[in-house]
Amino acid sequence: MDQTKLDQIRESNNIVDIIGGYIPLKKSGSNYKAPCPFHDEKTPSFMVSEKKQIYKCFGCGKSGNVFTFVRDYEKVSFFEAAKILAQRVGIEIESSKKNPEKQSQRELILNVYALATNFFKKNFNKFGDEAKSYLSERNISQETIDKYDIGYALDSYSGLKNFLLKNHIDKNILKQSGLFGLSENGAYDIFRNRIMFPIHSSNGRVIAFGGRVLSNQQPGGKYINSPTTEIYEKGRELYGLFRTRYEIAKKNSIIICEGYMDFLRLNENGFTNCVAALGTALTNSQIILASRYSKNFILLYDGDKAGIKAAIKAAGNIIQSGFVPKIVRLPISEDPDSFLLKNDDKALKNLIDSAESLSKYLYNEQELGLSERNKLDIIIDILNNTDDRLNCELFAKEIGEQFKVSANALLSKIIVKTKAIKKVNSITLDLFEEEKEILKFMLQNEFNFEKICQEINQDYFLSKIYKEIFITILDNVDYLSNPSILLEKISEENVRNILAEIILQESSVVEIKNFLDQIKLRKIQRDLKMLNDRILISPNELSLFEEKIKLKKIIRELSNKVVRKTLF
Ligand code: GTP
Ligand code: MN
Repeated sequence: MDQTKLDQIRESNNIVDIIGGYIPLKKSGSNYKAPCPFHDEKTPSFMVSEKKQIYKCFGCGKSGNVFTFVRDYEKVSFFEAAKILAQRVGIEIESSKKNPEKQSQRELILNVYALATNFFKKNFNKFGDEAKSYLSERNISQETIDKYDIGYALDSYSGLKNFLLKNHIDKNILKQSGLFGLSENGAYDIFRNRIMFPIHSSNGRVIAFGGRVLSNQQPGGKYINSPTTEIYEKGRELYGLFRTRYEIAKKNSIIICEGYMDFLRLNENGFTNCVAALGTALTNSQIILASRYSKNFILLYDGDKAGIKAAIKAAGNIIQSGFVPKIVRLPISEDPDSFLLKNDDKALKNLIDSAESLSKYLYNEQELGLSERNKLDIIIDILNNTDDRLNCELFAKEIGEQFKVSANALLSKIIVKTKAIKKVNSITLDLFEEEKEILKFMLQNEFNFEKICQEINQDYFLSKIYKEIFITILDNVDYLSNPSILLEKISEENVRNILAEIILQESSVVEIKNFLDQIKLRKIQRDLKMLNDRILISPNELSLFEEKIKLKKIIRELSNKVVRKTLF
């Protein structure tokens, strides 16, 4: 894709629309804010600037423009991201098929998963009699099987492997797909004689599988899930969301259950606004992902002790993310699937309607044999991990009322924490504050830029990172008014993130002269030091002394002007 095309795509996609389409953005001054989608956090430190068309997280440091956001959020290549954005605004681009070797690793692995999905589906129809009767015994309809691309993995160590090799898939890519184990005899299929549930990313591509045994006698775990790969990270996805997200948005509530079968049963019975968390504790990423569609979380976990514990944990995580969950109480020996097989939809609907807040649920909870003190300890633990003070207070108030203790007593148990994430390099960079001010200043407009270039050059920068940014700016003068492109020009993430910070923190300096004087003074003091070294070596060279006198004079002049103390 050529630069003009990229420019065209970038200009047609407003970053606020794009990011706002993925995560809820809140207006904050002239910028927008949200909890960072790239790291676990409860208080928003992720900033989007409409004016600059860039984003930056002041927690984890991640930054970039529309392209990098879509790339990192959707887990696709840069090219794929550009394609998605082009499609969105109807810009045509040439197909990538012409040079397959250029396709990214991710694309190649995604391709393997697409092929595998079709292979499993074909096998289900052709050789899957046992799988078919298993699902029909469990009352899963053909419609659901089709809708969720359910398939069947052959009872073979090489079925999938041979199929993929026949399709010219590179051996290296097979290895990285996570679908194979390795023995002395080479790679072998991990999923054998299992019902296959594809897991879709939110843009609808298959990125992982869950496989279920057909009978309890079969060896291996009841479920196997594919491992973390280039395209899949556990705890970032929600099973079914790709199909149910619009229902979730429409009904403005999201039912979260634990298992594949629970999810499918709920769907069969018309509870279409659901997802499954799949065995992991509900993570912040999953909560953020779900909250794009609805913030009304309903936890419908198994009725057993493990389910109760998991639901309490999940509810705590949701509260820490700033939302208010409700928990459904199922009979102790039931999960959503078994409950719906024994009762009608209305019975579940009633249970859902009487779902309780965490405080009420915990207060009424008896199965786990918790004392009141135990329960309060669970709550204090949740409060302790909630960064947002307002959230804490609201939750403490609610708990206080329920348990008849004072909210202040609860809040007094909160351990004051210092922020864990330190900004990259901030310690060393703090020493070069004036270099940063100069960069901020010169990014403001062309006039400032010219002024700085007349006065100093790269030799004046002592910090490696600020120097690199300075040089990048000089090399890309054309993009001065378009900082989101400047960001693209820096390949090292670390440095790029610092540039984003500089771009976002507008210069408050009206008079840059003082900073310039400081930086000049520092440079000349350094020159003087070097000169002194030379004088030590050749003490008879008169010109050196003349030079020294000149430098000293400049230093005196500058020192008088510079207010702040400098390094040297
Ligand atoms: P069935 O009704 O027995 O088919 O399963 P379920 O949907 O009721 O799931 P269950 O409550 O037993 O487990 C919840 C989720 O945990 C499953 O959907 C799987 O994602 C995961 N899980 C369950 N058993 C295993 C296992 O043996 N290994 C792994 N890796 N995950 C499992
Ligand atoms: Mn079950």
